[in-house]
Amino acid sequence: MTVTREMKNKLAAAAIEARSASYSPYSGFAVGAALLAEDGRVFTGCNIENAAFSPTVCAERVALFKAVSEGARSFKALAVSGGPAGKAPASLCTPCGVCRQALSEFCRPGMPVICACESEDDGSLVTKVFTLGKLLPESFGPDNL
Ligand code: THU
Repeated sequence: MTVTREMKNKLAAAAIEARSASYSPYSGFAVGAALLAEDGRVFTGCNIENAAFSPTVCAERVALFKAVSEGARSFKALAVSGGPAGKAPASLCTPCGVCRQALSEFCRPGMPVICACESEDDGSLVTKVFTLGKLLPESFGPDNL
């Protein structure tokens, strides 16, 4: 599955923007995610931390659960961006293992996962595109049950 360059840049920008709502007082690491549903809706999320630590939820799962709770069940692409809070994201951040598993319930292995940051030189957008299957090979899913 492919996304146009325009859509890739739009989703990457939405993920970077979503970082601004991150609640990350413990790690100081702000993450944003933007998930494009098959019907064209874009759902964003940020990481939300907790004083008890383990209730912390990653940006990708916030975006996914917002989407699923609004009736979206299939997705075309995900963008994610993370880095020290209060600064532009200067390096690429990939989804954690738990988020990869949560995404695999609803997203095909071929779905593009766009990791985005901004060049420290000129602030231009930098992206690297993986597929979910590349990030979570040999996964356990609904077909295993
Ligand atoms: N985090 C995400 O939101 N997504 C990831 O893919 C990696 C980690 C969050 C969790 C925690 O709030 C902070 O980043 C540091 O791990």
